[in-house]
Amino acid sequence: MQKMTKEEALKTVGDRKIVPVVKLDRAEDAKPLCEALCEGGLPVAEITFRTSAAEESIRIVAKAFPDMMVGAGTVTNTEQAQRAVDAGAQFLVTPGFSRKITEFAVDHGIMIFPGACTPTELMMALEYDLPVVKFFPAKQYGGAGTIKSFSAPFPSLRFMPTGGINESNILEYLALKPVIACGGSWMVKDSLIKENDFAGIRDMTKAAVQLVKGAEK
Ligand code: 3PG
Repeated sequence: MQKMTKEEALKTVGDRKIVPVVKLDRAEDAKPLCEALCEGGLPVAEITFRTSAAEESIRIVAKAFPDMMVGAGTVTNTEQAQRAVDAGAQFLVTPGFSRKITEFAVDHGIMIFPGACTPTELMMALEYDLPVVKFFPAKQYGGAGTIKSFSAPFPSLRFMPTGGINESNILEYLALKPVIACGGSWMVKDSLIKENDFAGIRDMTKAAVQLVKGAEK
């Protein structure tokens, strides 16, 4: 996929409603994993910089899956952000709010979903005119109820809750107007990747897509 505008990135994430959070120990798993996601009907992946295979994995996916939206997650410094962009990442996700990485993203015209879970961090996002924050870790910070409380003082902000979300609670989040999509790793679990169970990943992805299809606000 070509470089996306911020608006396109936002629309794609909103349409998909789920952003799989992927951790790859081996870059050679990137292709079969993304094939499974695409076959499951979810051509989007946040590949996290929790492993040294992240950059190469993003590069492989950006090249081999032109219809897929691939982003970099767990970006914790601008050096990683630069490597992610160079490898073809179409969006950045950070676990917390970093002014430096946010400014990098703004300067490079790339969509960023910064981690934020307090009113102070939400105000920082507003200072940079960011439309969406990653509410993380969602479950531990009060879940859907906290997002509801945020919507009164922050009516313009949108959220991508992540952390502790799975098929049993995702609809609760997606029912909230400010939630554009949820991040989660339940369909791309470590154990499934380690066992090369890409058919299992495809089937869990299919089920997840089916589940959120009719999610109405
Ligand atoms: C993340 O960093 O976004 C989380 O690890 C994803 O959370 P989950 O594994 O609870 O879905």
